[in-house]
Amino acid sequence: MSKPRVLLTRRIPASAFATLDAACDVERNEGDQLSPEQLRARIADKEGLVCLMTDAITADVIDAAPRLKVIANVAVGYNNIDVPAATARGIVVTNTPEVLTEATADLTWALIMDITRRVSEGDRLIRRGGWKGWALDFMLGNELSGKTLGIIGFGRIGQAVAARAVPFGLRIIHADVQAVPGSGAIPVDRLLATADIVSIHCPLTPQTRHMINQAALARMKRSAYLINTSRGPVVDEAALAWALKNGIISGAALDVYEEEPAVHPDLMTLENVVLAPHLGSATTETRTAMADLAVRNAITVLSGRPPLTPVC
Ligand code: DGY
Repeated sequence: MSKPRVLLTRRIPASAFATLDAACDVERNEGDQLSPEQLRARIADKEGLVCLMTDAITADVIDAAPRLKVIANVAVGYNNIDVPAATARGIVVTNTPEVLTEATADLTWALIMDITRRVSEGDRLIRRGGWKGWALDFMLGNELSGKTLGIIGFGRIGQAVAARAVPFGLRIIHADVQAVPGSGAIPVDRLLATADIVSIHCPLTPQTRHMINQAALARMKRSAYLINTSRGPVVDEAALAWALKNGIISGAALDVYEEEPAVHPDLMTLENVVLAPHLGSATTETRTAMADLAVRNAITVLSGRPPLTPVC
């Protein structure tokens, strides 16, 4: 019996590739990211697609694949896929929840510590020869103990970030974009006005795009910090640069951007922002687990069984 044909848009760890290759007839893109035209051409005869969050799987791409049965995204976020278009065609869309929760929560904490204690700023200072020695009032940051951490989006990652806050002596408040009765969530506006650190963990949807705009930033305390490890467009970068330049908030630490890999030019010149290159899930263990799960999802659906982690 012939194996199902699958398009793999980028390299994945060898163990995950071996699993996919054993079960499917895989066409693997070895080069740069596929353009929309290349994607449409290569997917035309495929039943499965294993793709990354950097691949835009639009309705046009989906329409170009009459035999497609499954789109397995190697990411927990799936805003790169037109899910309604896929669902309308009966195509299963899967993502990779759970396996990246701990890594992303760890990275969130790396950013919280970095911006509140000015680690990257100090690193830049030393490298340009600007450090003149220890002084009592030199490069003072802000302590965490007794402060309030506000988490927007209290799903798996938000909760894992909260769990790590306990030993630091932080009080936790949380808000959900879609209200869940009885969850203990408070309105986003109240969270913004109350928290000393606001950390964003909600998905990118039409409702959350530019949720953190000028008005939202103006609600925050002048001493507060904003952390974003979710999706870049949740924050209006131009508004954030304005807030950081004008002392509307104290600092920000970002792992995600509106137009990756571009970063708003005004953010690049500011000292009170830490910029990480989308590293939330970037550990060897987690990236391997993400690829394994995506591959298992594709194989499971192509063998006629229900997906392990469908997006809805
Ligand atoms: C995800 O899985 O959505 C992450 O952003 C990838 O690191």
